[in-house]
Amino acid sequence: MAKKRQLKLGAALHGVGGNISGWRHPEAKADASVNFAHYKQQAQKAEAGKFDFVFIADGLYINEKSLPHFLNRFEPLTVLSGLAAVTSHIGVVGTLSTSYSEPFTVARQFASLDHISRGRAGWNVVTSPLEASARNFSKKEHPDHPKRYRIATEYLEVTRGLWDSWEDDAFVRDKESGVFFDPEKLHRLNHEGEFFSVQGPLNIARSKQGHPVVFQAGSSEDGKSLAAKGADAVFTHYESLEQGKQFYADVKSRAEAQGRSRAEIVILPGIGPIIGATAEEAEAKYAQLANLVDIDRALNYLGRYYEHHDFSQYPLDEPFPDLGELGQNSFRSTTDRIKRNAAQKGLTLRQVALEETTPRPIFIGTPEHVADLIQQWFEEGAADGFIIGNAVPNGLDEFVEQVVPLLQQRGLFREEYERDTLRGHLGIPVPQNRYTRQREEITG
Ligand SMILES: Cc1cc2nc3c(=O)[nH]c(=O)nc-3n(C[C@H](O)[C@H](O)[C@H](O)COP(=O)(O)O)c2cc1C
Repeated sequence: MAKKRQLKLGAALHGVGGNISGWRHPEAKADASVNFAHYKQQAQKAEAGKFDFVFIADGLYINEKSLPHFLNRFEPLTVLSGLAAVTSHIGVVGTLSTSYSEPFTVARQFASLDHISRGRAGWNVVTSPLEASARNFSKKEHPDHPKRYRIATEYLEVTRGLWDSWEDDAFVRDKESGVFFDPEKLHRLNHEGEFFSVQGPLNIARSKQGHPVVFQAGSSEDGKSLAAKGADAVFTHYESLEQGKQFYADVKSRAEAQGRSRAEIVILPGIGPIIGATAEEAEAKYAQLANLVDIDRALNYLGRYYEHHDFSQYPLDEPFPDLGELGQNSFRSTTDRIKRNAAQKGLTLRQVALEETTPRPIFIGTPEHVADLIQQWFEEGAADGFIIGNAVPNGLDEFVEQVVPLLQQRGLFREEYERDTLRGHLGIPVPQNRYTRQREEITG
C-alpha cells in the first residue's frame, strides 16, 4: 500500500516568545532568548518528536518599544551552529535579510552551516520590514517594498550561483600525486546585475544536500512571486482555513507557471497551539496569557507594525483610526490585514490592540482537537505542514508529547527519521550542480 502523504513539522524557537508579556508567565524562563541551554533543550525535544527542522526568526532594528524577545536575542546562524552540534537529524533553519547583507558572505555562512550540520541547513529569506533598519547599516534609506523584492530576487540568483562554484567531485585531495582539486570543476560566477557584482568562486564546496534549503517568508504578491521562482519552502500565516486554501493554491500554481512541480515547494503556515486536557483547560491557559498584557504595552506592540507609530494619541474606545498609507512599506501583508479586520468587524483601537497582542489561536483545545485541525488543513489543501510556535512556555513540549503521537497513529507523520538531510525530510530534490548538468547535456 502506498504510504500516505506525510506532514512536515518545524519548531519555531523564539526565546521568551512572541507575546509582549509572555516572559511574565509563571512557567516562563525570563532569560530564554539568550539561554543556550533552553535552545538546546527545545531543539532536542523537537528532534525527539521527529520534527523536520527548528526555525529561527530575526530582525535588525529595536527600540524601547520592541518585544522583550527582540531586545536581547541570539543571532540565528550563531545559535544554529551550536544546535547543529548537539543534534543529529533535525534541520536547522535561520532567517537572514537580503536587504542588509552581501550574497557572498551569506552564501558562505549557510554553506558552512550546511557542512557543520551535514546537510541540514536552511535559510529563511526575508527582505526586512522595518524602515529604521537602514540606520544600522550605513544606508540613507530603507529600499521600498518592490525594490526590496527585486534585490531579493537577484540576491537569490547570485547565492545559488555561488553555491555551485565547486562541482561535487572537485576536491580530489590525492596525497600521492599532490592534486588537491580539479581545476575543471571550479567555476567563477562572474555575475553583473542591477544590484550585485560578484565574481566568485565561493570558498566552500557544496554539502550533501547540494544547496541549503531556501525558505521564504513574506506573503504579499511580490513575496509569493519570489517564493514561486526561487524558494523550496514558504513560511506564512493564515487567518482561516479558507484563506489558507487560496494562498496554497495560488503559490503552487505560480510555481507551476515557473516550470516547477507542485511538490517541489512546501507551504508551511505558522501556528501556536494551546493544548489542554479539556477544552476549558486550554481556554484557561489562553486567558492566563492574555491577562498578562496591559493596554499601554498593547499599543506599543501594534505601533511596531506601522513603523513604530504612536497609537496613544487616539481614543481607545472609538473605531480603529484611519492610517492612510502607513505600513505599506513595512509589514505590508500584516498591516493590510489589521486594517481590513478592524473595518470588517467594526473594532475599536483597544480591541484591535488586545487582539493583536494575544490573538486567540485557531489551534486551541484538546490534543485530539488540535490533531483534527492539523489533519483537516493538511488534507483539504491548505498546508504541507506547520511551523509550531510556543504560544505558552511549555507549548512545544506539550505538542511533542501529546499531539505528535496522535499524528503518528493516524499515519500522517514519521515515527523515525528515514533520511538525514533537511531536503530528505522535506522530500525536495537535491539540485544538480549547474556546470555538471551542462557538461552532461553536451556529452549526452
Ligand atoms: C510569516 C512571516 C514571517 C516573517 N518573518 C520575518 C522575520 O523573521 N524577519 C524579518 O525581518 N521579516 C520577516 N517577515 C517579513 C517579510 O520578510 C518582509 O520583510 C515584509 O513583511 C514584507 O513582506 P510581505 O509584504 O511580502 O509580507 C515575515 C513575514 C511573514 C509573512
